[in-house]
Amino acid sequence: MKRFVTFEGIDGSGKSTISKLVSERLRSAGHDTIWTYEPTDSTIGKFVQECIRSQTDPFITSFTFIADRIQHCKHIQQWLDNGKIVLCDRYAESTYAYQAAQLESELEDPLKWLRELSEGRILLPDRTFLFVIEPKIALARIQHRTELIPFERVAFLEKVHKNYLKISKGKRFLKLDATQSIDQLVQLCYDDIVQETKKK
Ligand code: ADP
Ligand code: TYD
Repeated sequence: MKRFVTFEGIDGSGKSTISKLVSERLRSAGHDTIWTYEPTDSTIGKFVQECIRSQTDPFITSFTFIADRIQHCKHIQQWLDNGKIVLCDRYAESTYAYQAAQLESELEDPLKWLRELSEGRILLPDRTFLFVIEPKIALARIQHRTELIPFERVAFLEKVHKNYLKISKGKRFLKLDATQSIDQLVQLCYDDIVQETKKK
């Protein structure tokens, strides 16, 4: 059974829809489950939203996303200590994919810089699902949103998409074809979370 699970992918890839449905499935099966998200709705999280809206300096944006996460981890740790399963819609890889794209002309190795700011200060998930989808298809899904934020442009999301594929390596990650049906994706995530960890 996996306890701390994160959902990653570009805007419109389906993270919120699927993660909420998976949390409902887990609850129905009797698992005490928390569904949470980043940026959070804390004071720092609200400042993060403002940074995105006003297209603030990417260094300030990076620091605030990470600060929001460090604060969030204190709650996540408590939930885990209380025996809950925690599903989080966006987490550290969002910063590594989006802010590295923002900082690519500012730093030689933005990913290394962002990881160094985070490591040792945030929790490591047991599983990270990456919802893989072409930016054009994802953007078509969210065209109805009343206000698209500055990150929701195809050229920028192409960079974010490439960064996600680059960083999502290793056994913590499970890449999912996000164009599958909602039911299929919910089933895949649910089965993966509840499956027994194989003993060596
Ligand atoms: P995200 O949280 O990644 O931005 P959402 O969960 O808000 O994405 O989904 C964006 C839109 O795409 C929503 O209208 C949602 O109903 C739709 N959607 C989500 N998953 C799928 C899917 N697998 N197939 C078709 N449409 C989907
Ligand atoms: P969110 O509301 O989750 O967007 P969506 O539902 O469209 O996927 O996140 C808001 C925006 O913030 C989104 O474009 C991704 C971006 N973001 C970062 O740039 N860095 C981060 O660390 C996080 C958590 C989000």
